[in-house]
Amino acid sequence: MPPIDLRGKPIAITGASSGIGLVTALACAREGMPVALAARRQDRLRELESEIHRQGGRAISVLCDVADPSDCRRLVDRTLEAFGSIYGVYANAGYGVEGSVHELSNKAWRDIFEVNFWGTLNTIRPALPHMLQAGQGHVIICSSVVSKMGIPTLAAYTTTKAAQDHIGRAMRIELHGRVHVSTVHPIGTNTEFSQVVTEHSGNRPRTARSPEGFRQTPEQVAEAIVRCLKRPRGEIWTSWTARMLAAVGTAAPEFADFILRRRFLPKIAEMKNAGKPAASPPA
Ligand SMILES: NC(=O)c1ccc[n+]([C@@H]2O[C@H](COP(=O)([O-])OP(=O)(O)OC[C@H]3O[C@@H](n4cnc5c(N)ncnc54)[C@H](OP(=O)(O)O)[C@@H]3O)[C@@H](O)[C@H]2O)c1
Repeated sequence: MPPIDLRGKPIAITGASSGIGLVTALACAREGMPVALAARRQDRLRELESEIHRQGGRAISVLCDVADPSDCRRLVDRTLEAFGSIYGVYANAGYGVEGSVHELSNKAWRDIFEVNFWGTLNTIRPALPHMLQAGQGHVIICSSVVSKMGIPTLAAYTTTKAAQDHIGRAMRIELHGRVHVSTVHPIGTNTEFSQVVTEHSGNRPRTARSPEGFRQTPEQVAEAIVRCLKRPRGEIWTSWTARMLAAVGTAAPEFADFILRRRFLPKIAEMKNAGKPAASPPA
């Protein structure tokens, strides 16, 4: 099968104001895809829109909080108005928060689900009827390497990433032969993500960080996404080592727990000894 020709196929991308979303938008535009850029920081979107125009591509920017379903409907409407159709939607917007399961507040748990989980549904649902009617389309969801395993102090985040993985898998069977559905599973990526986690976690030093030497650039993720748009497949992994570790963690949970204990218990103790609460009390 020849690769799909992406030229002229419009895609809407959330979280396009920085990191993986921004670089993916540039990469898609270079492939000739008209791009609808969505996020809350409009100045950043406008800059990216101008950059894509400078490079000869087509782009619009749409102010959008993915937690608000009406903003996401507007994103799809604006894409249709500007480009006449919608071929792809990349639900990429998301953030992380640190705190132990029992200490993180209910509000913090609810807030992250509003953006990472509901934001994904809010984004893809209004686009799907148009794709189904056109008889083609590609839904891409940014999950994570951590979607397959809960990580201590990061469980609120990893639970949302697992939920995204589950809806992606279910949808690609439900929509088989009609619309492609893929989930992305990046390892630690050099973006604003870590800084935003710190801000959402009360500016405490981070406990859960990717090991050094196990990080990548957003360009590597964007290239993998473009490859998947051309030759669709279910899951996009950017590290075979991470993929194998996720498999081992599922097949041998006691071994995975042993490794996680060794890595995290000293750090959690260090934080407690430093008098820093693991998170705010439940509310
Ligand atoms: N970096 C990593 O190590 C890593 C690893 C695996 C998976 N991921 C996933 O990759 C995705 C992108 O993250 P990143 O690494 O590129 O981080 P980033 O640089 O912080 O980008 C996050 C993007 O999400 C947007 N966003 C956040 N909340 C939003 C909301 N309520 N409505 C609309 N947009 C919102 C932000 O834009 P505004 O603030 O302008 O709204 C920003 O454009 C996330 O889903 C993340 O979970 C990241």
